[in-house]
Amino acid sequence: MNTQDYARWFRATTPYISAHRRQTFVVLLPGEALAHPNLINIAHDLALLHVLGVRLVVVHGARPQIDAALPGSRIETCKGVSRRVTDANGIRVIAGVCGQLRSEMEALFSTGVPSSPLHNAEIQVVSGNFVTAKPIGVLDGIDYQLTGLPRRIRAQRIEKMLDAPAIVLLSPLGFSPSGQPFSLAADEVAERVAVRLNAAKLIAFDEASCLVDGDGLRLGHLAPSSMDAALSAAQVAPATRQHLAMLARAVGGGVASGQLVSYEDDGALLAELFTADGVGTQVTEDDRRLVRRAEQRDLADIVDIIRPLEQAGVLVKRSRDQLEREIGEFLVAEVDGFVVGCCALHPAGKCVQLACVAVHPAYRNAGGAGARLLAAAEDAARKDGYDSIFVRTTQAQDWFAENGFQEGSAAELPAPKQALYNPQRNAKVLIKTLT
Ligand SMILES: CC(C)(COP(=O)(O)OP(=O)(O)OC[C@H]1O[C@@H](n2cnc3c(N)ncnc32)[C@H](O)[C@@H]1OP(=O)(O)O)[C@@H](O)C(=O)NCCC(=O)NCCS
Repeated sequence: MNTQDYARWFRATTPYISAHRRQTFVVLLPGEALAHPNLINIAHDLALLHVLGVRLVVVHGARPQIDAALPGSRIETCKGVSRRVTDANGIRVIAGVCGQLRSEMEALFSTGVPSSPLHNAEIQVVSGNFVTAKPIGVLDGIDYQLTGLPRRIRAQRIEKMLDAPAIVLLSPLGFSPSGQPFSLAADEVAERVAVRLNAAKLIAFDEASCLVDGDGLRLGHLAPSSMDAALSAAQVAPATRQHLAMLARAVGGGVASGQLVSYEDDGALLAELFTADGVGTQVTEDDRRLVRRAEQRDLADIVDIIRPLEQAGVLVKRSRDQLEREIGEFLVAEVDGFVVGCCALHPAGKCVQLACVAVHPAYRNAGGAGARLLAAAEDAARKDGYDSIFVRTTQAQDWFAENGFQEGSAAELPAPKQALYNPQRNAKVLIKTLT
């Protein structure tokens, strides 16, 4: 890679870096991934995410390791889900295996090898009794004994650790209020934790690199409602099927996005998170995609929408370079997968400036793309802790007023924005308090 390629590549990742910062990701690392030689690279990539400000909860599995430690243990299948029957000796062995795997993971995050992302990173990894459990009980006449289900997730304690900032590492074990350990399924723990923390992403490492359609082509995106049809159209391994079903349930439970990535391919996680097309399969609700954060791949669509308005003097002119730099601050509205509108949110102290609000002429006054953008922008600003949102407009004063904005004056803007105010444009200042 020459210097220019390197610089271009690095710049292209910037919007994703800002989009992922301070977001909570729950990562499921099955036991098979822990046994794979690529684990060291995965640990490095997770460390990199942590250093970039992603709040990480890692849930590790242990199925093949427990199979090896408890040969001949009883596995029963009920309603399509296979579970081990765990007796008193079994739970002792399982707790030992989990302890061993946990300390191996902790050791991985502690190695400060020069020229690795972990060098001088001093990553704090925290484990603990964050999950309480209850017995599964008797299903179809089978007593699963000390095999359990997650009962309560101690979300506040986990959040506190993430604020530290630490990586929270969870084993597939939970404890009843009386202190009895139960063996849990790692994917059930990951799903419950992701939903409880309202995570931005639940990421499942899997043997497969993605879900494919009947023609063997990668399905890069899938809505939970299309999952059953997609699974029946392709040959999918049982573990992959289970992971995808988990992602769909989590998204149904409010997690913004589920992602399936390979644990065998070096760099799959980074390619999935920091490139426009990704390499795995993402599961998100369709309607959530109507307004979403812009990505570099949206640049051409945004330019198409705003250039005529710039030429007409309705919007202030922005160079392509500036748009590229600021793309992480843009939201785009989609209809049937097409970008039909955009807006930008520029932080300005305690308030945020809404700019570049525009809907493609073919989609104006039809379907409320503008109103949806506005609502999403306000939601995002509120979530990021801003007190108020303001806009400067020459043509859409009434529209903003109808959407709850009130006329203000340039003097009410934060000092740096006042300095940029161009009196010749004579744009109206409209402000909305975000209470
Ligand atoms: C302003 C804009 C984003 C609204 O998008 P939209 O998708 O049409 O908005 P909605 O569908 O949510 O709202 C449509 C309603 O707003 C009204 N409206 C649209 N633009 C308006 C404007 N500039 N002034 C007053 N009312 C306007 C429509 O007449 C319609 O009213 P109705 O429901 O009574 O028929 C779009 O018209 C646009 O791109 N305008 C050009 C760019 C611009 O001026 N941007 C603001 C500068 S920051």
